[in-house]
Amino acid sequence: MRLLIFGAGGMLGHDLVNAFSDEDIFVADLPEWDITADYETLKNKISEVKPEVIINAAAFTDVEGAEEKKDICFKVNAEAVTSLSKICKELDILLVHISTEYVFDGLKQEGYNEEDVTKAINIYGQSKEQGEKNLIENGDKYYLVRSSWLFGKAPQQGKPRGLNFIEKMIELSKTQSSINVVNDQFGKPTFTKDLAHGIKELIKAKKEYGIYHIINEGSVSWHDLAKETFKLMGLEVDLKPISYKEYDSQIERPTNSVLNNNKLNKLRTWQEALAEYIKL
Ligand SMILES: NC(=O)c1ccc[n+]([C@@H]2O[C@H](COP(=O)([O-])OP(=O)(O)OC[C@H]3O[C@@H](n4cnc5c(N)ncnc54)[C@H](OP(=O)(O)O)[C@@H]3O)[C@@H](O)[C@H]2O)c1
Repeated sequence: MRLLIFGAGGMLGHDLVNAFSDEDIFVADLPEWDITADYETLKNKISEVKPEVIINAAAFTDVEGAEEKKDICFKVNAEAVTSLSKICKELDILLVHISTEYVFDGLKQEGYNEEDVTKAINIYGQSKEQGEKNLIENGDKYYLVRSSWLFGKAPQQGKPRGLNFIEKMIELSKTQSSINVVNDQFGKPTFTKDLAHGIKELIKAKKEYGIYHIINEGSVSWHDLAKETFKLMGLEVDLKPISYKEYDSQIERPTNSVLNNNKLNKLRTWQEALAEYIKL
């Protein structure tokens, strides 16, 4: 299978490249491979690679930064998805597009099913929501894969957007004896390695085109995720539960970011995945 992976240098992209290493993969990342390039340029470049499958893991993922950089955020997360969807349709390529729990408002107690109506509450979420709509409107053969609260081992040091939550907690514990962590937002933490393998299984199984949720099982608050991280590491850290209102952020975030997987085999729990991650 010949695959082209956009965003290959990112956290998920890194594990996608690992998961598909036994396939014929073409690794595409900035600056040479920009999904916001003009339509004809992008189409010609993709035509030369001749992929059967494109995975789009490229995105503008700085949730806080998106509020001030709305234009570039929508360009990458929404407009570029229209181009990719149309190109894939024209060239008869399967498009796997990655989306997020942030397309939902987080008010549904039971969590969100694949076909639930989206309603994002911040700019990043709205850009990803628009990306989903653009895919559905313009795409043909596609898998829209949502996931949540990603943690992965890609080299992230030096990136302006910083570290994933787990690494952020570990870094903070080196300089602070007490850490305040939000205890009233819930989600399903997902290891990018498991997500990448889930995506591979989805493609190999030739499932019906449409929307899929690929997440590790079990939901947890940020506070309890930090607690489990330090427990696994054998570190004594004083964690103070705080509400999101007390946390220093200007933006709204969904309270219950829980995705339900009703269509695929379930992945292992986030605790099992985290235990493996911590040992890496
Ligand atoms: N992180 C999470 O918790 C989370 C949760 C749910 C869903 N998701 C989704 O999962 C996907 C992967 O996320 P991630 O956390 O792996 O993100 P990431 O680490 O930020 O990786 C995104 C990659 O896309 C690249 N990129 C940005 N703009 C681009 C452009 N115009 N053309 C080509 N590449 C571009 C980035 O390059 P630079 O680093 O140079 O900017 C980076 O390599 C995204 O669709 C995201 O929305 C993430």
